[in-house]
Amino acid sequence: MADDTTDTKSSNQMWGGRFASGPDAIMEEINASIGFDKKLFAQDIRGSIAHATMLAHQGIISAEDKDKIVHGLNTILSEIESGNFEFSRQLEDIHMNVEARLATLIGPAAGRLHTARSRNDQVALDFRLWVKEELQKTEQMLTGLIAAFLDRAEEHAESVMPGFTHLQTAQPVTFGHHCMAYVEMFGRDRARARHAIEHLDESPIGAAALAGTGYPIDRHMTAKALGFREPTRNSIDTVSDRDFAIEFLSIAAIAGMHLSRLAEEIVIWSTPQFGFVRLSDAFSTGSSIMPQKKNPDAAELVRAKTGRINGSLVALLTIMKGLPLAYSKDMQEDKEQVFDAAESLELAIAAMTGMVRDMTVNTARMKAAAGSGYSTATDLADWLVREAGLPFRDAHHVTGRAVALAESKGCDLAELPLSDLQAIHADITDKVYDVLTVEASVASRKSFGGTAPSEVRKQIAFWRARN
Ligand code: ARG
Repeated sequence: MADDTTDTKSSNQMWGGRFASGPDAIMEEINASIGFDKKLFAQDIRGSIAHATMLAHQGIISAEDKDKIVHGLNTILSEIESGNFEFSRQLEDIHMNVEARLATLIGPAAGRLHTARSRNDQVALDFRLWVKEELQKTEQMLTGLIAAFLDRAEEHAESVMPGFTHLQTAQPVTFGHHCMAYVEMFGRDRARARHAIEHLDESPIGAAALAGTGYPIDRHMTAKALGFREPTRNSIDTVSDRDFAIEFLSIAAIAGMHLSRLAEEIVIWSTPQFGFVRLSDAFSTGSSIMPQKKNPDAAELVRAKTGRINGSLVALLTIMKGLPLAYSKDMQEDKEQVFDAAESLELAIAAMTGMVRDMTVNTARMKAAAGSGYSTATDLADWLVREAGLPFRDAHHVTGRAVALAESKGCDLAELPLSDLQAIHADITDKVYDVLTVEASVASRKSFGGTAPSEVRKQIAFWRARN
């Protein structure tokens, strides 16, 4: 009969000193993160090189050991990059996989790398570096999407389309103005990404397990070497903080929400019933049974990716909720949420940038729709206020009667004969027809931020200078 102390499975070489046996298979499975945190290999190695360099500079390890460590780490980096590295689940995570390989490559000096640090500050560092790079990438991709909208806005500064509220025709606007609404939205997302980079720009390494360390380390040196503004100021908070990941997910969720609204508009606009835009073949698919169809699949998938991103945000908020300070293993579940959301967001921005650049805009359809649904009724009311001196509420009532009459005759407001209009209000003259066209309507809305082509061009210039 096997005795408890003679288990054949070996204990973990990194932390197994007090363990007589290795983990149960299920324990290994639930514990291991290498399947996903191998994505952090470059950040892990960069962090270790900076840490070892600082240890040697402070006289905590010898220059000779530091050189071996740095050389070994660079070897591992190229092994992983070229696909010649065997990741082991028994070694749990990226940190221990790299360190174990380092031991094989350089021998006992490898054991000195983990002086004055813990996996708790190590993972906080690796993940922060990764999220920082992802935020920078998000910022760049949003700049590309904004540029695509600025080009379309410029091209269509004068193209008239119906503006909607409640998805009912409201007032004529220009397509350029509508495009610029998205520039504002994605501009805010980009500003949020920039702020988040500022918030997270503090180096966690050196917080150690949670309490700091007795070794004479220089956290300012590692912070600088890793491109952070400064080191974090509280070691307990440092290893228990995942705000930077939650901020990334919040930004991704808000941007995803914007992208899904755009996606929905493209789905609607590309229906034969609207026919405002036609997607390029590159961003649509056919139906396997209905040959006439062109489906906006990419837009639909962008709309759906938003659900995944929201799920990740809620998941990480829930993972962190109620965790006592400082580090708990729960926090290992942070990474998959962020990696998945980042992939979804990148794909969604890329697909939307392509769609916006490629789609054909049917200005004739837009213009025809802009004039339908009595979209210039407000212009008639405003004319009555301006030219006939009516209070707006009375003008609204008079206009309502004109709309009802046009509706009963099955014609547009501009098609009502002057005698009909004068029967409703005697002060109406033939000058009124100047404001009843959609072009006159949009041109008149010159208020700051309004839809007049001259205003839209000002806003395009504002954003061009900032993009
Ligand atoms: N794989 C772990 C994580 O992602 C690294 C930190 C482990 N720390 C620990 N004390 N077990 O969170």
